[in-house]
Amino acid sequence: MVNIDQYLQEKREIINVALLKQLPDQAPTALSEAMRYSLEAGGKRLRPILTLAAAETISDIDDNTVNLACALEYIHTYSLIHDDLPAMDNSSLRRGVPTCHCVYGDAMAILAGDALLTLAFETVAHYGQMEGNAVKAVNIGTQLSEAAGMSGMIGGQVLDLEAEGKDLTVQEIERISELKTGALLRAAVICGGIAAGATESELGKLKVYADNIGTAFQIIDDLLDCEGTTEELGKPTGADLEKAKATYPALLGTAKAREKAIELYDRSIKAVKELNYDTEILEELAKKMIERKS
Ligand code: IPE
Ligand code: IPE
Ligand code: MG
Ligand code: MG
Ligand code: MG
Repeated sequence: MVNIDQYLQEKREIINVALLKQLPDQAPTALSEAMRYSLEAGGKRLRPILTLAAAETISDIDDNTVNLACALEYIHTYSLIHDDLPAMDNSSLRRGVPTCHCVYGDAMAILAGDALLTLAFETVAHYGQMEGNAVKAVNIGTQLSEAAGMSGMIGGQVLDLEAEGKDLTVQEIERISELKTGALLRAAVICGGIAAGATESELGKLKVYADNIGTAFQIIDDLLDCEGTTEELGKPTGADLEKAKATYPALLGTAKAREKAIELYDRSIKAVKELNYDTEILEELAKKMIERKS
């Protein structure tokens, strides 16, 4: 049986090295510092780990896959920097340290986010320059841009802001979670599958796995905002209530919200088990994603 904590630890270390190695060193100092600050603050590195896990489930991985997986974390870290800005969730703590804009100012935090987003696509382009990867890189770039953009994460962030203080239906809340959080988590898994040469049918199963666990992940994030501790989470709790965010726990209560997350988790496990590979790591990762305390 796989030791998932050890797996996570090992992958996190590999990702952490690759994340910094791919930062260009000719950028202005203040910008580089702000980008490094948010990257080095930590985080679970769940998205690049999902990319590696999906790829490894299907085939062997190499350094190029690790470098590619960093694109997911660049996009995610950028999204957190912008999500915390005063004009958005206005948060002063992230990953256990003051948010990027609190240290470097709003303008530099916006630019650090912009540069991380751009770096993600530079990373995909470099991946595509490796022999045999050109078509994969086009497909990965398509997935990533759709997931990060207006019909994915950004669209979800817009709906999230517009929903503040409003009464939404479960379906509307589900849509926000799918877009603002689920889309990038799905891309993380799918991009790993593409890098490993998965077939359309395999990608379809990975997609169902990722869609379900991605939405469950946001429900747990919302639950932790109500029930978790700032110390464990490294970000403020009670922020959603304060901003009257439309969340599952706010609409359904915490018990029903947890039931919903478990239902989605069960669906993700069912889908991934249909793959003709050893899927234990992906299953264990999904379990971690819903049992997490941070
Ligand atoms: C937080 O994501 C924001 C959401 C999309 C729910 P994570 O919980 O993965 O944050 P880090 O990367 O570990 O800091
Ligand atoms: C974040 O959702 C989704 C992103 C795209 C960053 P939240 O606003 O709930 O994330 P946290 O709670 O600040 O990490
Ligand atoms: Mg937000
Ligand atoms: Mg937020
Ligand atoms: Mg949250």
